[in-house]
Order: sequence, then structure tokens, then C-alpha cells
Amino acid sequence: MKVRVSILAGIGALLASSFLINGTALAADPYPNKPITLVVPFAAGGPTDAVARLIAIPMGKSLGQTVIVENTVGAGGTIAATRVARSAPDGYMVFIHHMGMATAPALYKKLQFDPMKDFEYIGQVVDVPMVLLGRKNFPPNNFKELEAYIKVNKEKVTLANAGPGAVSQLCGLLFMSREGVELTTVPYKGTGPALTDLLGGQVDLLCDQTTQTVPYIRDGLVKTYGVTTPKRLSALPNIPTLDEQGLKGFDVKVWHGMYVSKGTPPAVLAKINKALNAALNDPEVKTRLAESNIEIVPASKATPAGLKDHLEAEINKWGPVIRKAGAYAD
Ligand code: MLT
Repeated sequence: MKVRVSILAGIGALLASSFLINGTALAADPYPNKPITLVVPFAAGGPTDAVARLIAIPMGKSLGQTVIVENTVGAGGTIAATRVARSAPDGYMVFIHHMGMATAPALYKKLQFDPMKDFEYIGQVVDVPMVLLGRKNFPPNNFKELEAYIKVNKEKVTLANAGPGAVSQLCGLLFMSREGVELTTVPYKGTGPALTDLLGGQVDLLCDQTTQTVPYIRDGLVKTYGVTTPKRLSALPNIPTLDEQGLKGFDVKVWHGMYVSKGTPPAVLAKINKALNAALNDPEVKTRLAESNIEIVPASKATPAGLKDHLEAEINKWGPVIRKAGAYAD
């Protein structure tokens, strides 16, 4: 009996010391205790990358750790989404993606992740308008001239995009369908490299987010045919909307969300959400985003429920449209 007691006491002491060790370790190593990776699903130098890099610094300050931006490109953001969905649920791999998260389930036949099952939601981030651009020496000087030009030259006009599921593709498809023309589309791994080629004169047209385009538009380095939102933009007040130039109801604005993998503990989610909101309220971030006509979402949307509800609504909105159009990617 004595032996048994002492064995039990020994086990108890071992357990106690193990709890103590774990307790001490936990107390000394609260999240985050190492750098955090922020995965961007498109090429560096593009709009998603720019927003990620802008908020990474204040998020890092708030979390007390460096936030390192990493680009995992290809397949309209689905390669990056798969990577994040399969990552450890510990909050060290954070994901920023736009509305491609909502279009992917209908667009991709063999999707390796489920946007509604494989992620925890941090919050919506920003909404970005788009603008239809042409290379500087592209002959049409305004939207009416563009419409006339593409009708006659449709075989040779090239329209860049960032691949299946990219918003540049969606905007381009909508434009072509409204004009009743099929142009030659040129896919890139992000609109960063696509914009570089537009500036270099290698492609004719690109529907891009305003994130990086405003200075090029102001300096006349690209031609601008119209903004994709129903209202003109305060950063580009002289650029007419596509709607006011005849494409009634043309309305594309790009929403963005932040995610981590399913099973990440609530306390970790709360810390990342706090850091996201701190970044969105950072005065320098606000100024930089306003210069590009990017709208910070209201605080009620920069929440896990705000993103989850919006994502679900967007999946339900885009799914039937994409399926009806018969648009698929492998
Ligand atoms: C990018 O960051 O390159 C874009 O968001 C791509 C796109 O969807 O057009």
C-alpha cells in the first residue's frame, strides 16, 4: 500500500511538475512569440500586395512581432488559399484575399479548400474601386473612341488580367459581355506585372484596382476610359464612370478579407482582429489608402461575423452568375 501511495505521489508530482513546466512555458510564450506570415495570393507589386504591406507594419506593432508578407501566387489565389487552409491553426499564417474567395467555389472544378469550412474569419479589410485603363499610346482617347475601336479591331486588342478568379478577369469579362465583343485576354500572376506591361506598352487594356494606378493616371502614363463604380471617385473626379458613359449599372468594387486556418483559438483570433483594427485606424494607413480612393470598412465589418456573413452572401451571389455563364477554371 505504501509503495502504491508513493507511486501515486510520484505520478502526482510528475504531473504537477509537467503542468508547472507547461504553465510556465505558456505564461512565457503567449501568442505571438515569433514572426507571423501574411500570405498574399497574387504577385508582389500588385494591389493586394500593396494593401498587405501597408497594414503589415502597424499590425506587427500591435502584435509585438514582425509580420512578414509572403506571395504565394497562381490560380486566381486558390493556391495560397489551399496553403493557408492546410496550415497549423496557431495564428502564425494569416491570409488576405479579395472577393476571389467567394467566386472560387463556382469557378474552380477541383477546389482544394472550402471557404466556409476551412477558415476562421478575422474581418473585412478594405473596398477598392477599379478603373479601365489603356496603354499610353493606345489609339482610342476616350470611352466612345474605345467602343468604336474594339468593334473594328477586336481580334488584335489585348486585355490583361490576373488569371481565373482575379477581379481584373471578372471586370474584363463584364466589360466584354456588355460590349458584346471577345478580346484576346492575357493572364498574369497578378495585376502588378500586368500593370508593368501596360506601362511598357506590351498589352492594350487592363481593368485594375485604384491601389497603384492613381499616380499613373494623374501623370498621363496610361489612358483612362472609366471607373467601375456607379459614382465618380474623389481621388479621380474628372474620370467619368462607365455607367454614365453608357454601361448602365456597371458596378464593380473589390472587397477584401483576412483569414486564418480553421481551429485557431479564439484568443488568438481576437489578438489578430485587434491588430487589424489598429492598422485600419493608423493615421498613416488611412492617408495612404485615401490617396488611392480605397475605403476602410466600418468597424462592424472588420469583425469575424462581418466577414463570414459577407463571404457567405457573396458566394450565394456569384455562384449562380458564374454557373449560368458556364465559366470554369481547372
Ligand atoms: C492583385 O493583387 O494582383 C489583384 O488583386 C489581382 C486581381 O484580382 O485582379
